[in-house]
Amino acid sequence: MNILVTGGAGYIGSHTCVSLMEAGHNITIVDNFINSKKEVLDRIKEISGKDFKFYKADVTNEVSVEKIFAENSFDGLIHFAGLKAVGESVEKPLEYYYNNVVSTLILAKACLKYKVNKFVFSSSATVYGENQVPFTETMELLPTTNPYGETKAISERILTDTAKANPDFSVSLLRYFNPIGAHESGLIGEDPNGIPNNLMPFVSKVATGQLEKLSVFGNDYDTPDGTGVRDYIHVVDLAEGHVAAIENLDTGVNVFNLGTGKGTSVLELVNAFIKINDIDVPYEIKGRRPGDIASCYADASKAEQELGWKTKKTIEDMVRDSWNFERKNY
Ligand code: NAD
Ligand code: UFG
Repeated sequence: MNILVTGGAGYIGSHTCVSLMEAGHNITIVDNFINSKKEVLDRIKEISGKDFKFYKADVTNEVSVEKIFAENSFDGLIHFAGLKAVGESVEKPLEYYYNNVVSTLILAKACLKYKVNKFVFSSSATVYGENQVPFTETMELLPTTNPYGETKAISERILTDTAKANPDFSVSLLRYFNPIGAHESGLIGEDPNGIPNNLMPFVSKVATGQLEKLSVFGNDYDTPDGTGVRDYIHVVDLAEGHVAAIENLDTGVNVFNLGTGKGTSVLELVNAFIKINDIDVPYEIKGRRPGDIASCYADASKAEQELGWKTKKTIEDMVRDSWNFERKNY
């Protein structure tokens, strides 16, 4: 297939581009580098040994999007481009609604006009809000505590309604759990600007000495060791989930959790990082972070049954590959 990948220079997008080309697909990337670097494109080529077309453009710009669709003939699209910092979305709601919702509207409109009938969308487990774990795809979505989460829920609605009104247009809404890890080459991985918000990049930067100490946000949750539980998924497994999703996408609205189905606590993850990489990560217990929930993990059975996809990599693989990327690139 010829696949347009928006946000293909980013963390999940770059790994997915590698997996798509390994599976024999042709890709075109569009990115404006608002949260990535152009060197990533060379690294995708180095890993895959393949070339691809690239557009530096903002996917909220309808003229740019129109040009990309007019110049190519795509079979499908994977839409990663978006802003993703939960805390920042509370400070700058308009930027988040504009970037994440307008991009979805413009891309869906272009798909209808140019008859690109497969749309795969990066959603998030955050749309489940405070439902009971494990989260299943049929659960009613609960309001999230931040604008970022709302942009994902709204984009899901836009794409669902568009697919209902246009029977040839099909969508796959992929709800990711917590991606960590990196490509085993250490050439691509998660490289956030500034001080990381997320646990794994923070732990990696404490391990290199760039940050002094990890704060563990709360040890009084109703979880086995009191710290927050999440469903960490290796980014390469997640990338392969996208290949399975677009290859199986034929009709209608399809919703899939992409997770492992297993919960891991903050302390379990930090201790696995220390043990596998044989490096110290000083930490201290602090108060809860506002907006966090105790536990978040997937019922991952639907993707396995319907897409034939399941995760292969372990927590040990994830902490090893995260550290491999960090120490080669900081
Ligand atoms: P990322 O920031 O590394 O990648 C996003 C890419 O999109 C970046 O390269 C950025 O430059 C680009 N981009 C952003 N806005 C753009 C625009 N208007 N036009 C063109 N390019 C634009 O993020 P990621 O972790 O790879 O996440 C990819 C997607 O998955 C996002 O939509 C994110 O919300 C979603 N998601 C991420 C997580 C996570 O924990 N990483 C979890 C759930 C969902
Ligand atoms: N945590 C710490 N210290 C830190 C950072 C995080 O203890 O410095 C804890 C959090 O309290 C939480 C766990 O580590 O218990 C994971 O936190 P992350 O910030 O890494 O991830 P979240 O689960 O909060 O959110 C992530 C993405 C969201 C996405 C969600 C989907 O940031 O965009 O996963 O499950 F919606």
